[in-house]
This record gives sequence, C-alpha cells and structure tokens, in this order.
Amino acid sequence: MSDSLNTTPEALASAPHVPGVSVRHTRAKGEPRFPDGPKADPAGSHFERRIRSFQPRRSRVTAGQADALQRLWPQWGLDIDGQRVIDPAELFGNANPVVLEIGFGMGEATARMAAADPDTNILAVDVHTPGQGNLLNLADRDGLTNVRVGNGDAIILLREMLRPDALDGLRVYFPDPWPKKRHHKRRLIQPEFLTLAATRLRPGAIVHCATDWEPYAEQMLEVLDAHPDFENTQAGGGFAPRPQFRPLTRFEGQGLDKGHLVNDLLFRRVPHQSR
Ligand SMILES: C[S@@+](CC[C@H](N)C(=O)[O-])C[C@H]1O[C@@H](n2cnc3c(N)ncnc32)[C@H](O)[C@@H]1O
Repeated sequence: MSDSLNTTPEALASAPHVPGVSVRHTRAKGEPRFPDGPKADPAGSHFERRIRSFQPRRSRVTAGQADALQRLWPQWGLDIDGQRVIDPAELFGNANPVVLEIGFGMGEATARMAAADPDTNILAVDVHTPGQGNLLNLADRDGLTNVRVGNGDAIILLREMLRPDALDGLRVYFPDPWPKKRHHKRRLIQPEFLTLAATRLRPGAIVHCATDWEPYAEQMLEVLDAHPDFENTQAGGGFAPRPQFRPLTRFEGQGLDKGHLVNDLLFRRVPHQSR
C-alpha cells in the first residue's frame, strides 16, 4: 500500500471522514479546488468591494470537510456571485421565515440554532471554506433541512441577490473586531451596512449582534441607536441580556478565555415610513 495521500477530487469524495486530518491539494493551474463545491471568489472582481470586512485566510480543509463540500454543496450551497436575485422560498423549499447569519465561522452555533428551531430557515454566509464544509457536515449529520450555506461576501448577497423585505432576521455573532484604528473602516456594523440591511429586512425583523470586543460593542450600540430604521428591543436601551437561544460560539469561547466581556444587542426593524 502506498503512503502517499491521493487528493484527487474523486478520491476525496470517496475518502472516509478522518477527523482532524488536513488535506493539501495539488492542483493543476486553473483547476478548481472543489469541482462540484463552492467557487473561489464567486462574485469575481466585477463586484469586488474595496474595503472588505473579512481577510482572505489560508485555509486547510480536512478530508471530512472536503468530502462534504464535494458531496453536499450542489444541494445545500449557494455561491454568492451577485448575478441573480434569489427566491428564498425556492432555495429552502418552503415559505418559512428566513434569517441571515453573517460570518458563521465553523458553524457549530448555527447548526444548534437550526436544530432548535426547525421552522426558521437559516441562510448562513461565510467566505471560510473549512467552515462551509464543517457546517455542511453538521447539517448532514443532524438531518437539518433548514440550513443553506452561502459562499462569499454577505454585502453582495444583500445588495445584489435579495429582494426588499426578504429577511425576517439578521444575526452577526462575533464579527471580526478589527481592533487597529486604521482598520476600523473594515468593521461590518456601520451606518451604511445598516441602511443596506434595513432594505432587506421586514418590519419587525430582529437584528441580533454579539461581540466580545467592548469598543466594537459600543460602536454597534451607537450606530444602531442612531439609525432611523432600527429601535432597541430593550425598554431602557443599551445592551440586551444574553438570550438563552444563542449558543456559545467558538470565537466567544476564545474571548471568554481571555477574560473578555460579551455584549448582545437586539434591535428591531421599524415599520416602513409612509411616504
Ligand atoms: C471572528 S469570526 C466569528 C465566527 C463565528 N460567528 C463565531 O462566533 O465563532 C467572523 C467570521 O465572519 C466572516 N465574515 C466577515 N465578513 C464577512 C462578509 N462580509 N461576508 C461573509 N462572511 C464574513 C469571516 O470570514 C469569519 O469567519
């Protein structure tokens, strides 16, 4: 038996899931990483935004994640290419409420929330390939039919691919804090982002953010408070008590280990202004 690892897509697709085993792909130039899986940079340079809220990461994909990406992407994956408007009822196969989660990381919390609330559809978006594979595996293992995995920039999804009022909620858990001042412009929760999100959120939709980075929490509170399309669900204003339904996330655990304080924010999309 040969010691060398066969990393052709066919071999990966049929490889048994070996937890923790990373796979290095040797591909010919131009050959896609996962022929049936998520596309690299699906929106292409045409839609590329100058300032991105994420950083491209070198991503090691385990054999199990690679298997899930190949096997499950055609059914549960959505490439955010910015080229078409999607119908969420068609995407999920039902007309249940749809919540967008931006930046699910490895997806453990997403899978748990989907399992706890099967009548809510979760459109979970991230650019992180190993996380996409991980969430597909979790959804498959747990028989979750209410999760779809989006690959690409959530801004492009919101701007180009969703109709007004398409969403019943928005979750942003532990977004990249971009602590350096010169990187603050990369933070996701900013007035322009909220203005875009508001156009896709139905009146009454809840925006739920959480962060362990206190200066970012203060910024979130400030911009949400100041935005005319959102109101605080907390009668006295300020941060919300951590809701029972939000599981501990991976980044949250890391923040808590460092002694960080976690803040939740729960705001509601107000009714449309009558013109
Ligand atoms: C700090 S991680 C938090 C992950 C997870 N929510 C957790 O708490 O463990 C933030 C994630 O957001 C993703 N992200 C940031 N901006 C994004 C965007 N515009 N569209 C899609 N994903 C984004 C990053 O790739 C990263 O995986």
